Amino acid sequence: MKFAKWMLGIAVLALLAPAQAQQPIVIKFSHVVAVDTPKHKGADRFKQLAEERSKGRVKVEIYPNSSLFKDGEEMEALQLGSVHMLAPSLAKFGPLGVRDFEVFDLPYVFDNYEELHKVTHGPVGATLFRKLEPKGIVGLAYWDNGFKVMSANRSIRSPADYKGLKMRIQSSKVLGDEIKALGAIPQVMAFSEVYQGLQTGVVDGTENPPSNFYTQKMHEVQKFLAVTNHGYLGYAVIANKKFWDGLPPDIRATLGGAMKDATVYANDIAKKENDDALEAVRKSGKTQIVSLTAEEKAAMRKALVTVHKENESRVGKETIAAVYQATGFKP
Ligand code: LMR
Repeated sequence: MKFAKWMLGIAVLALLAPAQAQQPIVIKFSHVVAVDTPKHKGADRFKQLAEERSKGRVKVEIYPNSSLFKDGEEMEALQLGSVHMLAPSLAKFGPLGVRDFEVFDLPYVFDNYEELHKVTHGPVGATLFRKLEPKGIVGLAYWDNGFKVMSANRSIRSPADYKGLKMRIQSSKVLGDEIKALGAIPQVMAFSEVYQGLQTGVVDGTENPPSNFYTQKMHEVQKFLAVTNHGYLGYAVIANKKFWDGLPPDIRATLGGAMKDATVYANDIAKKENDDALEAVRKSGKTQIVSLTAEEKAAMRKALVTVHKENESRVGKETIAAVYQATGFKP
């Protein structure tokens, strides 16, 4: 009798084993932007490639639009392992204590994507990722978004026009100083709250690439958009280090390949997504697009580059020098 029970136990285990072996590894990937953006499209491509190439051994669940975690929550959630992957803006690493990332926020430090890629694809990008490891985070890739525009309910052409405006910013001290350099008042606010903040007048204006401006419907609540291109906004795709290092090596290699290809895709579409979004704002007829004259651009630049020197000790002299060297930037 005992022997029969024992045999039955073995048979049940044998039946269950293949089912258990087929349970996929679930990767939760959370972000704060809308689905019609370069970041979400990049995440979606990663999901597709990861699931296909792992032959179903991996399942990627994407949570867009702050539906799982918001700004101010997501980094901690990643460190705790409540989510496995994120792609926060490079301006959101200060609160984690890795302030060097704010080098990307320095006004006018990149003239174009080519200059930016010399940093993100080069030794500076790799050094910055290494600084995340003691925080339990591994950097996987840099994804582009684009160059920022300013918006408000008054025409903003030169620094004097910003005086006294409350401007929503991301959680970066460099961005706070940028707004102060224009005589305006910076206000840190989670991305998910910006539309309402602008609608109710808690803030008067903001900055973001056109893709975020349009997909969050900010054109419904902002009368003017100035094409300043005064700074860059992009992303670091990051993972919980313990989770990533604990993956079976073949799966980790497959995911690394999927990330590499998704990165090429995301960075290929970013510029067009932003050009199209600016065109869509124009077509909406709700927000007037303001193009600056050469004199106005020069006045903005003169006011904003002061932020570089001011933030030398925060961002790190060496990091700033390495970025200047890569891009050829001269203050
Ligand atoms: C913002 O908070 O303005 C952006 O960083 C959102 C994003 O992830 O693009």
